This record gives sequence, structure tokens and C-alpha cells, in this order.
Amino acid sequence: MDTASPPHAFPPEWRRGLYQAILKRRDMRHFLPDPVPDDALARVLSAAHHAGSVGFMQPWNFLLVRDRATREKVHAHVTEERLRAAEKFEPARRGKYLSFKLEGILEAPLNLCVTCDPARFGPAVIGRNTIRETDLFSTCCAVQNLWLAARAEGLGCGWVSILKPESLRRLLGIPEPVYPLAYLCLGFVESFPEKPTFETEGWLPRLGLKDLVYDGAWGRAPEPAFTDLLKDVQLI
Ligand SMILES: Cc1cc2nc3c(=O)[nH]c(=O)nc-3n(C[C@H](O)[C@H](O)[C@H](O)COP(=O)(O)O)c2cc1C
Repeated sequence: MDTASPPHAFPPEWRRGLYQAILKRRDMRHFLPDPVPDDALARVLSAAHHAGSVGFMQPWNFLLVRDRATREKVHAHVTEERLRAAEKFEPARRGKYLSFKLEGILEAPLNLCVTCDPARFGPAVIGRNTIRETDLFSTCCAVQNLWLAARAEGLGCGWVSILKPESLRRLLGIPEPVYPLAYLCLGFVESFPEKPTFETEGWLPRLGLKDLVYDGAWGRAPEPAFTDLLKDVQLI
């Protein structure tokens, strides 16, 4: 086989598109007020719905939150939890943490809660016998698809997790045992930064890929030639 151009590989421009979406996806917290067009939203939701899921259980639902009054309640809860979280940081880092904008709940024209129903299709699910959380993992896959598709549509997406799932459940009327897995802000943006905010702001660095890859056993570095490749991967 020609391994440089395997038979089922995407043509170069498709590959570039995929890698562009991956590299240029950002967590967004600033939004323009323009509404999200229904057709783009439908495509983004469809991309999410095509994620892999354990046993094909498709445990997700997508709850659109457009109503201002509801978003204000979620925002008030997040503001409270953000201040509570600040106490966890050492005093030296607390100020920096509080300077970050960590959500765009009210600015974004649309909020969206992605939920996970652990009971979908009954108690027996292929592949979930030993790892119960695979329903949650599946829903995370849907969120990542949504995030990438949104980027391709020119829409920013920001994941807000500074909240208590129980509070979100109450505010959005989500029944047990459905779990509100991700609260997302969606909308057009002025621009997408090249790098994560936390990297630009010196909060944390991007780790080197070569230090994260082991071969054969935990902690064992791969062959030097492969390690060299990992030092400088060019996706696009
Ligand atoms: C599960 C999850 C929860 C997150 N929660 C928040 C959040 O509450 N507030 C926030 O500003 N960013 C949140 N983020 C975004 C991360 O901070 C962001 O992904 C990371 O800094 C890397 O930046 P990037 O997404 O732009 O590449 C979350 C991301 C994930 C995957």
C-alpha cells in the first residue's frame, strides 16, 4: 500500500479543513449580538448528533436557552460560584483568576445545555457494563463535534462549567436522571485568538506533545526518531 497516500485518506483540502477546525477552535467568552442563523445551528447540532456513543445509545439532548430571564438566573449562579472558586487559589493567583472573563452567558445570543440521559434505551447498553461513565464520555464527544462545527461556521463557542449541575437542573427544568453535562455560549465573534487565553495570559503553558506520549509502558519514551517527529508536527 502507498502509505503516503492511503486509499481512504481524505484529499488534502478536506484534511486541511479538518485540521484547521481543530487548530483554530477556541473557547470564546466575547460575542457579537447577531443571532445564530437557524440553518447554521441545525448543522452544528447535526454534527454533534453524529458523534460516536457507547452502544450507539446517543444519550444527548440539546436544550436551547434563548430566554433572557433564564440566562440572567444562570449568570447570577455562575457569578456566585466564580467568587467561591476564587478562594481555592493561593492569594498570589487569586487576583489573576478574578481578572479572567470566564463566560459570555448574557452577551452570547444563544446558550445551549447539552445533557446526558444515562437511562436511554434501558439499563443494558453494549459497552457500558464496566464503565458506567461511558454515557458521559459519549456526550463529551458530541460537545467536541459541536465545538468544531461551530468554528467551521464562524461561530464561537464557550463552555461554562463554573456552576453546580443541580442548580442548572433546577433552572432549566431538567428531570432526574438526566445530567446537564455542558453549558455552552454560542454566537458570532469579533475574532478568534490564535492561542488559548490562559496560554497568552501566562496562566499555563501548552505542554509539549513529546512529553505526553509513552510507548509500551507508563513513562517509557518512544524511539528517538518518533520523539523528534512529535516535537514539530505540522497539521496544516
Ligand atoms: C470541560 C470544560 C469546561 C470548561 N469550562 C470553562 C469555564 O467555565 N470557563 C471558561 O472560561 N473556560 C472553560 N473551558 C475552556 C478552557 O478553559 C479552554 O478550553 C482551555 O483554556 C483551552 O483553550 P481553547 O479551548 O481556546 O483551546 C472549559 C473547557 C472544557 C473542555
